Amino acid sequence: MSQVSRRTFVATGTAAVAVATKVFAQGPTVIRRSPAKPVVVSSANGNRYKNGGDMTGVEKAWSMIAQGSDVLDAVIAGVNIVELDPLDDSVGYGGLPNAEGVVQLDSSCMHGPRKRAGAVASIEGVRTPSLVAKAVMDYTDHHLVVGKGAQEFARNMGFTIESDLNTPNSRQKWLEWKRRTDPSHYLDPKTRAEAGYRVALQMVAEGKIDREHLYGTINCDGVSPKGEICGVTTTSGLAWKIPGRVGDSPILGAGLYVDGDVGAAGSTGRGEANLYNLCSFLIVENMRRGMHPKDAAMDALRRVKANTIEKRLLNAGGNPNFGLNFYVVNAAGEYAGASMYPSKYAVCTENGAQTLETEPLLQGKPEP
Ligand code: GLY
Repeated sequence: MSQVSRRTFVATGTAAVAVATKVFAQGPTVIRRSPAKPVVVSSANGNRYKNGGDMTGVEKAWSMIAQGSDVLDAVIAGVNIVELDPLDDSVGYGGLPNAEGVVQLDSSCMHGPRKRAGAVASIEGVRTPSLVAKAVMDYTDHHLVVGKGAQEFARNMGFTIESDLNTPNSRQKWLEWKRRTDPSHYLDPKTRAEAGYRVALQMVAEGKIDREHLYGTINCDGVSPKGEICGVTTTSGLAWKIPGRVGDSPILGAGLYVDGDVGAAGSTGRGEANLYNLCSFLIVENMRRGMHPKDAAMDALRRVKANTIEKRLLNAGGNPNFGLNFYVVNAAGEYAGASMYPSKYAVCTENGAQTLETEPLLQGKPEP
């Protein structure tokens, strides 16, 4: 914690608790009562990278919320730190590229009070897709713009378009993957895709890439002292994906869902599993019915487990063989991180930023 001192955190947080006003009632209707605790919750990388500055993403977002910024501006400023940091190769600049070595990015954002949303998918050449997603929200009648159209939209909005978002790190990792998956050995596209995934897992097992960065992403959600809720998710998607593959991150209800009266949920991990079950929407709807964020997320994980029946996706014990993580906050400022296997998440409150263990559905970790 830096630009905002601990005293500011504590003082602002205490005042905020006195002012804020939401709690859940049993049943389908959410009733606003007091108080709400301002909080920012995110994937663990939200409390890891600083991009040369002195605050992590969750610290930045929380400090802006505490100073009265719009919550969406705050959580986006938080994830911008991670998008721009070349050390995080799961997001934005330096994100791991697709199978052809091109970095393609996805992002979505939702503004609870304004009931607006925006998203981009498969966008190339812009380091901060979260800001382009916000521009879609602010300047168009649409919710999702993709590919070349998203890049042209960004250019017209004044974003710098770069020819290549690879860093030496992301390029070197792609070259290693490419070397091991010489496509001339895999004429059948299905076999080739499976081989590509196997090689990626081998590289994880050898410590060459972080397992979390295979589907690496950042989701960040915040609640203000007034109980305003916003969220953003941004990613370079699945490492070495088929060009044009879009995961859950830019899809409202999957990688992110915000209801300004209820709460927010977002995800990292295997996007395909989340897309099939629209878990962020499910989690927010569970909270609307009165569930605590943790129970709401565990219910979604059980749904994913029940719907995962293809053998190639199961481990020897018959359980899902992939990671999937949810970050959840309700309108009262209660929060949770939940995951298929033990993982971590970040949170920032008036007490400062912390990296915490998620609540896992299963023990162990996915098998290589
Ligand atoms: N969850 C990120 C992705 O699957 O693209």
